[in-house]
Amino acid sequence: MDMLSAGSYKGAAANVVEALPARYYLDPTVFEREKQAIFYRSWYCLGHISMAPKPGSYFVGKVVDQEILVVHGDDRTYRAFYNVCRHRGHQLARGSGECRTLVCPYHAWSYDLRGRLKVAPHSKGVPQFKPAEVELAPVNIEVFCGLIFVNLDERSGSFREQFGFIEKELRQTVPRIEEQKHVFDLPVEHRCNWKASVENFSECYHCGPVHKYLVGNVIDPQTYQLTVCGRTQKHEICTRDRSMNQNIWFFWPNTGVGLYPVPGFGETLCIRHMYPVRHDFTYYHYRWFVDVEKDSGAVIDYAKHHSATTGAEDAAVAAGVHIGMQSRGFISGILLADPDRGASTEHAIAEFHRWVMEALMAPPSSS
Ligand code: FES
Ligand SMILES: [Fe+2]
Repeated sequence: MDMLSAGSYKGAAANVVEALPARYYLDPTVFEREKQAIFYRSWYCLGHISMAPKPGSYFVGKVVDQEILVVHGDDRTYRAFYNVCRHRGHQLARGSGECRTLVCPYHAWSYDLRGRLKVAPHSKGVPQFKPAEVELAPVNIEVFCGLIFVNLDERSGSFREQFGFIEKELRQTVPRIEEQKHVFDLPVEHRCNWKASVENFSECYHCGPVHKYLVGNVIDPQTYQLTVCGRTQKHEICTRDRSMNQNIWFFWPNTGVGLYPVPGFGETLCIRHMYPVRHDFTYYHYRWFVDVEKDSGAVIDYAKHHSATTGAEDAAVAAGVHIGMQSRGFISGILLADPDRGASTEHAIAEFHRWVMEALMAPPSSS
């Protein structure tokens, strides 16, 4: 595949950078390549431990087109498996729930919480069949500050190796990040490529023109600070009355984790996932959490309001970009990548494009 190298941005200056060409957003073959080079090889957040709070609880998440079953084991260890029965390939579980064994709905093969086949009905008459040799296909999983990350690359390095440097600051900002309850899910349809969703998250240049309610009532873009470190971004912004902060860490390739300042309630944990579905469709999925000791009503009400305002506004500009990029009059965008521009800088997008290109140009995994 013909890949633009990061060094070939025409007319690039330190702070005016040519963005990735439109075809990187529009071409399904680029998305297929990204699946292999990025999403099947990177640490991908599927949620928080409160989504499977007790031994025996589980949920199914997705890494693009791969269903992953996350199970809270009876030894209090979280494990992840491809969500497929080893018998004839039926999906093993759906949604979320609690169980003592994982029973396939098709022929009732049943697995323990560690993925070992325990029962295959009517198989005793087949002495050559050895259930003890059958296990679900495992997936790498790491729990980091209560966040559940999986990596489909068997040879991946550890999550902590790559992102552990965030832990101290994240725990200082969200000291009870593990003691949370998951109270609301809000998947917002973005009719655009996943990179456009990440880019929309990666700047507050659009906050003034697009988010009238947010800027008029919640945050003050004048206080915005955005720093890039490793393959992370850190967003810091104060509320208009300076009583609360919005601090969000972005983990490559598609997760933002931090505090959301809910008016009248306080700061609460919110995770944003930019979940790619197709080259032209992404779920910008908000998950809202509340400290286990607090009532969740105000956060749920705000999350619904947020959906109708900020969430819908971002979805509209995301779709507008995808339509606009199909114009014959557009080849690639221009980024004003100057960190000194405060809320208006697009330098985190320029960095993000570099990460995308590095991943696409990396040699294929030999696993
Ligand atoms: S496919 Fe699962 S038991 Fe047959
Ligand atoms: Fe926005």
